[in-house]
Amino acid sequence: MTIRKLTITDVRNVLSATFEPSADVNVFFGENGSGKTSLLEAIHILGVARSFRTPKVKPVVRAGAERLTVFGFVDHADRKQPLPVGVSKGLLDENTLIRVAGETLYSSSELAYLLPLLVINPDTFKLLEGSPGSRRNFIDWGVFHVKHDVFLPAWKSMQKALKQRNALLRQGRVSESELSAWNHEFVAAAEQVDVLRKAHIEQLLPYFYTLLEKLSTLRDITVSYYRGWDKEMALSDVLAKGVSRDLHAGFTHSGPQRADLKVRSGKSSAIDRLSRGQLKMVVCALKLAQGALLAETTANKCVFLVDDLSSELDVSHRKALCHILQQMNIQVFITCVDQDSLTDCWLPEVQCKMFHVKQGQVEWIENPVRAMRQAESLEIEHD
Ligand SMILES: Nc1ncnc2c1ncn2[C@@H]1O[C@H](COP(=O)(O)OP(=O)(O)O)[C@@H](O)[C@H]1O
Ligand SMILES: [Mg+2]
Repeated sequence: MTIRKLTITDVRNVLSATFEPSADVNVFFGENGSGKTSLLEAIHILGVARSFRTPKVKPVVRAGAERLTVFGFVDHADRKQPLPVGVSKGLLDENTLIRVAGETLYSSSELAYLLPLLVINPDTFKLLEGSPGSRRNFIDWGVFHVKHDVFLPAWKSMQKALKQRNALLRQGRVSESELSAWNHEFVAAAEQVDVLRKAHIEQLLPYFYTLLEKLSTLRDITVSYYRGWDKEMALSDVLAKGVSRDLHAGFTHSGPQRADLKVRSGKSSAIDRLSRGQLKMVVCALKLAQGALLAETTANKCVFLVDDLSSELDVSHRKALCHILQQMNIQVFITCVDQDSLTDCWLPEVQCKMFHVKQGQVEWIENPVRAMRQAESLEIEHD
């Protein structure tokens, strides 16, 4: 997908902004606190109906306003005409209204499927250090987009059966026949989810290794998928064996809800061995691999939202990442403080639009080089 036009109203410090992004690269530059991250959040809301910083609505709605709205025209592989998409979130009722091509969508996952977004920001870099939940979300993002029709129903029924099983376990007095009814449903859905996740990781890893080679000199990294239970045993046997432990704890210890990605450097865990900078490169390669796989296996390309790159990566890694993004031929929104920290990262054939962000306002800088010279000469006059 490609976002052609955006109108953002009452998102954090952005009172109202309308602009037409480039189909390639869009740079938001401006001082700290000017509203760059808020703009990326607004685009994220358009694609997923929530911010990437918080699940709450209140902090994201501009102080003093009651409702935020993000509206855009989106080019989609399946549609001939640009698709009008609007997301509005109210402060008082917290109701989210999602409209696509004049129709209301009642589920944010339908919206997410339509507009795939990938975020690279300072939080993303904690993917390997953080909880397994964030790595499961990472895996599931890919499976959801690549195998949408089969994955979502399997995942939902796995979650439902798990919830029921845990509720029974919490009651304590539970008959074996009651538990085995839910075991049966849980195992069936769990196995489906596992097969899809495993196949996705197998598909993803060649992309990951190729990209990591381009981004770093690391050569001994291995990524493996842990499904959430012993790889030699059937889940039904694992559940039967662990029933007293599950009853004692009041929840299910084994299953896809425990899945994870294990990243190793040689024989050690990557977390223990790699530097912070090297871990960031591994995370970038994982994220970019999802985008590359999606672009090659489905008609719908994703949009990358990249925040605060200059504070996270040095110049050479920044350039390597930008180089890969432009080779993927996708739409990118990227922020930086200094206008020139990202200007020489793009190939001449890439259409790069620069937007100056000032106190929540967005101004397209049509000729960034001339604007920079004017700013410099003003500074000299002042001196
Ligand atoms: N709900 C809100 N209403 C109004 N202003 C807000 C709200 N939330 C945050 N802000 C302000 O918005 C400004 C922009 O924040 P942010 O987008 O993170 O800036 P940047 O990424 O450019 O450093 C900050 O000054 C912050 O105090
Ligand atoms: Mg920011």
